[in-house]
Amino acid sequence: MFSSLMGWVDARFPATKMWEDHLSKYYAPKNFNFWYFFGSLAMLVLVLQIVTGIFLTMNYKPDAALAFASVEYIMRDVNWGWLIRYLHSTGASAFFVVIYLHMFRGILYGSYKQPRELVWIFGMCLYMALMAEAFMGYLLPWGQMSFWGAQVIINLFGSVPFVGPDIALWIRGDFVVADATLNRFFAFHVIAVPLVILGLVVAHIIALHEVGSNNPDGVEIKKNKDKNGIPLDGIPFHPYYSVKDIVGVVVFLFIFALILFYAPEFGGWFLEKDNFIPADALKTPEHIVPLWYFTPFYAILRAVPSVAGSAFAGVAAMGAAQVFLFLLPWLDRSPVKSTRYRGPYWKIALTLFIISFIVLGYLGTQPSADTTLLVNNTILARIFTVIYFAFFILMPWYTSIDKDKAVPERVTMK
Ligand code: HEM
Repeated sequence: MFSSLMGWVDARFPATKMWEDHLSKYYAPKNFNFWYFFGSLAMLVLVLQIVTGIFLTMNYKPDAALAFASVEYIMRDVNWGWLIRYLHSTGASAFFVVIYLHMFRGILYGSYKQPRELVWIFGMCLYMALMAEAFMGYLLPWGQMSFWGAQVIINLFGSVPFVGPDIALWIRGDFVVADATLNRFFAFHVIAVPLVILGLVVAHIIALHEVGSNNPDGVEIKKNKDKNGIPLDGIPFHPYYSVKDIVGVVVFLFIFALILFYAPEFGGWFLEKDNFIPADALKTPEHIVPLWYFTPFYAILRAVPSVAGSAFAGVAAMGAAQVFLFLLPWLDRSPVKSTRYRGPYWKIALTLFIISFIVLGYLGTQPSADTTLLVNNTILARIFTVIYFAFFILMPWYTSIDKDKAVPERVTMK
C-alpha cells in the first residue's frame, strides 16, 4: 500500500527523489568528527526558536504600554509560560554558541574555499540575518536594556555622513525609540526576518549538496569514485549521519536543559539584569551593553576613536569586521584546506584571531574606562582590534608563503 501511495505521489511530486538526493543517497565523507554536529544543531535550535516564538506571540502584546507587563504575565500566569519564554531566550544564546562553533569549523577546515564559496556566503548572510533577528527580538520585552540598547545601535546609523540622521529617523519611525519602533521590530522579528532565514537555510543546504561536504582532512571525496560513481570515502547521510547526529542532539539538549532549568539568565549573560526594569526614556542605565554575541563587534566600535565628534569611523570598522569574513574565500591563498595540513603561519594567525575575538568579546562587556590586567580597556581593545584585522589583511601574504604539508589522497580515520 505504501509503495503504491509513494508511486502516486512521485508521479506528481519528487518526494522519493528529494529523499534520495539529500539523505539516503547523499554521500558524505566518512571521517566527520564532532565539529560536524553544529549544522544539524543549528537547524534544531532554529525549529525550537520558531515553535517557542509562535507560543510567545499568543500572549505577548507589541505595545509600548503593555509589552513589559505582557512578558511578566507570560512568566507568572500563562501555563508553562516561564518555560516557553526561557526556552526562547536561552535558545537565542544557544543559537549563537552553535553558530560560532559552526563558523569556526568552516575556518578550521577551509570549508569556505573553492568550490564552497557560495555555501559560505549564504552562511554569512544567515549570520547577518540572525544578528538582526536577535537585535530586534531584544527590544520586544521593553525593558531598560531593550530600550537603551536599541537607542544606541539605531543612533549609530545617525553617524553616517549626510543621510545618517534621516536613516535613523526612518528606522525608528519617531525621534526616539518608541511605540512605532516596537511595532515594526515586532513585525520584522516574528515574520519578515524568519522568512529570510528559512529561505537562506534552504539555499545554504542546496549549495552544499550541489558541491558535497568538506571534511576534517579537506580532501575532495568526489575525486575518488567507484565504478558506480559513488565516492569511495563517502557514506550515505541516512542512516549513518542521521543517527550519529542524534548523539550531538542528546549532548546538546543535556547541557541546554542544565542551563535552562538552573541558570536561564546565566548570571546576566543571556538576559541582562537591567532588562527586568521597565523601559524608561528619562533614565539611562549606567552601562549599556549588548548581549555577549554582539560584544566583539561592540568592542571594535568603541576602540576606534571618534573623528570630529562623529562615531562613523567606529561604525565603518564594525562593518569592515563583517565584510572581511564574507571575503575569506578570496583572501585565503593556500592550496590546502584543512588546518591539519597547513603551515605554522596559518596556525599562529588563526590562534591569534581566536584569542582576539574572545578578548574583544570580553572587553565589549566591560566599561571602556576600566582597567583589565593593568591596561586600560580602550588600549587593550585597540591592540586586539588591530590583531583581528591583521588576520584578514595579511592573509593573502602569509597563506601564500606558508610551509603547508602534503595532503593525503584519501581521507584518514585517525
Ligand atoms: C541558521 C543558521 C545555519 C544553519 C541551520 C546551517 C546549517 C548547516 C548544515 C545542516 C550543514 C551541513 C552539516 C555540517 O556541515 O555541519 C552546514 C554546512 C556548512 N555551513 Fe552552515 N548553517 C547555518 C549558518 C552558517 C553560517 C553562519 C556559516 C558561516 C558563515 C555557515 C557555513 C557553513 C559551511 C562552510 C558549511 C560546509 C561545511 C563543510 O562541508 O565542511 N553556516 N550548515
